[in-house]
Amino acid sequence: MVSNGKYNAAKLALKLVKDGMVLGIGSGTTVEIFLNLLGERIREEGLVVYGIPTSYQSYYAAIRNGVKIIDLVEHEPELCIDGADQVDAKMNCIKGGGGAMTREKIVAKASKKVVIIVDESKLVERLSMPVPVEVLPFAYGYVERKLKEMGAEVKLRHGSGKIGPVVTDNGNFVVDCDFGVLEDEDIGMIEENINSISGVVENGLFPKLIVDEIMVGKS
Ligand code: 5RP
Repeated sequence: MVSNGKYNAAKLALKLVKDGMVLGIGSGTTVEIFLNLLGERIREEGLVVYGIPTSYQSYYAAIRNGVKIIDLVEHEPELCIDGADQVDAKMNCIKGGGGAMTREKIVAKASKKVVIIVDESKLVERLSMPVPVEVLPFAYGYVERKLKEMGAEVKLRHGSGKIGPVVTDNGNFVVDCDFGVLEDEDIGMIEENINSISGVVENGLFPKLIVDEIMVGKS
């Protein structure tokens, strides 16, 4: 069941898309709604839209909806549309509920403008959910010890439909790291410290500097 809030946020973001645009395409259910709505515009208005997706999920959803798939070698997205799991009052975000945060952060950083689309349930005063961290499987034990030294409670993510750990689209593990409540002024430093551990590929903290606009859909 999809929330109306997600639909309304996606619909708002759709207005930003122009003919010939190169889009960075995040992942998740809100992004999928956005792609379905974009597909309607592509079919009805004959728009040509190019996209750089950040997961298999959004890759196939983009193709189904007539978006022409390109990559970062020759193209720089004008606009990146993505969802988030939590958004604080200063526009810092936590992403990676779907385990796609590495490619999502690369594409966001490569894009001229980043718009995050969420329903109201994602809004919080301060970030507090566990931060997803993508880890090279070989380095898992070491990285876990280092994250614990940083003060996090660490859980290796397990999914459904397969026994054992979740494996990302890049072939890595995800550990969810509970640092408690995150203050705005600490977020940039925590993001950097996590990434400085050898074996960490990327983490789901998106400091406000990466984000240009948050579109909140109300139900
Ligand atoms: C995937 C993400 C998603 O953008 C995030 O989990 C939000 O998903 P949804 O739109 O399904 O609520 O970061 O890695």
